[in-house]
Amino acid sequence: MARTVLEVRSLEAGYEPGVPIVRGASIRVEEGEIVVVLGPNGAGKSSFIKAIAGLVPVSGGSVTLDGQDITGAPAHRMVRLGLAFVPQTENVFPLMSVEDNLKVAGGVLPKREVAPRIEEMYRLFPDLRERRTTPAGNLSGGQRQMVAVARALMVRPKLLVLDEPSAGLSPKFVSMVFQMLTDVRKAGVTILLVEQNAKAALAIGDRAYVLVEGRDAHEGVASELWNDPVVAELYLGHRASPAQGGESR
Ligand SMILES: Nc1ncnc2c1ncn2[C@@H]1O[C@H](COP(=O)(O)OP(=O)(O)OP(=O)(O)O)[C@@H](O)[C@H]1O
Ligand SMILES: [Mg+2]
Repeated sequence: MARTVLEVRSLEAGYEPGVPIVRGASIRVEEGEIVVVLGPNGAGKSSFIKAIAGLVPVSGGSVTLDGQDITGAPAHRMVRLGLAFVPQTENVFPLMSVEDNLKVAGGVLPKREVAPRIEEMYRLFPDLRERRTTPAGNLSGGQRQMVAVARALMVRPKLLVLDEPSAGLSPKFVSMVFQMLTDVRKAGVTILLVEQNAKAALAIGDRAYVLVEGRDAHEGVASELWNDPVVAELYLGHRASPAQGGESR
């Protein structure tokens, strides 16, 4: 049986005491999976994964990473605990070269492990090797997301958590980012992903949750959720189309 990497139970979190934004959300991520969190604007998706990553105060429920209770641990401890969070914006140092971005991210590794790990990142992301001396801020949006992900992976996290990695990118770079995430998963990384781009995210995901008003309203196999008529119409903004190979229920 697959190992459970992340188990979130009835999480409650918010920015002000007594005003919960995340209201009892539960999810599970198994080793090697890509799990997607979808939901309408303002559903609390970002707040939910930020609470998991220690960036929003937790007022109830629990977060367990690889069997260890990490509920409410501060963000700066999460890297050592094995959880790497890639925020939606400002996720690279724009004035620093690609290589320096990776070096800084590897700061918690023993010194002799940094250069070999950077080499592994270049093998996984050959584009970055070519741009190693380029300031990260001068890269395309897609390549910048690659740097952000490579930075997160420097420390070999047990779980990679991303908030809308395709946001604001042109279609060409959107597909580049989703291809990159499938490559990262192939390299053995377990991924939890929040996305607006439901179709593309469900295409690469194994399972998905739909978050509505801070709660998990639906859970399912990624490919089936896209074709679920209720989910499609209410939360994903399209009509399920059985004619295109989906199941009708
Ligand atoms: N820093 C903050 N301080 C106070 N309230 C916030 C903060 N960030 C978000 N909120 C509130 O939390 C609620 C959920 O926002 P959140 O950004 O988590 O939703 P989301 O599902 O990620 O939305 P989107 O699809 O637009 O990214 C919103 O009502 C928002 O106003
Ligand atoms: Mg958000």
